[in-house]
Amino acid sequence: MITALDHIAIAVPDLEAAIKRFMDDFGIEFEGKEDVESAKTSTAFFQIPGTSIELVHPLRGEGPVAKYLEKKGGGIHHLCFRSDDIDADVERLRAKGYQFLTDAPYPGAHDCRVIFIHPKSCDGVLIELNEMPEGH
Ligand code: CO
Repeated sequence: MITALDHIAIAVPDLEAAIKRFMDDFGIEFEGKEDVESAKTSTAFFQIPGTSIELVHPLRGEGPVAKYLEKKGGGIHHLCFRSDDIDADVERLRAKGYQFLTDAPYPGAHDCRVIFIHPKSCDGVLIELNEMPEGH
């Protein structure tokens, strides 16, 4: 079951400048940076009541976010819904005809298990599902 809007992700061409903007100009609480090998991204998270903002930037200049930035220069990249049972949600949505970018969930940021629904299945919006690790 989907239980929350976990985060909204923004693809940024200059991660340090974007971190400064969110921290200094917007005054949003900086939670930290994390390189996510599975997604080939450098990410920065900001806490805001009820959800968070994830800034995504290509790790080593490669991967899907690099292609996104080449095409669009930056922008809202994906939404992430938190799931309390990601395997059940994937199975339920697959049965309804939703397409996913991978066959199964895999490790993402914050040790969550994540999977992306293909934008074709959601009116052009890339949607991530994540499940918190045990004990969170
Ligand atoms: Co995300």
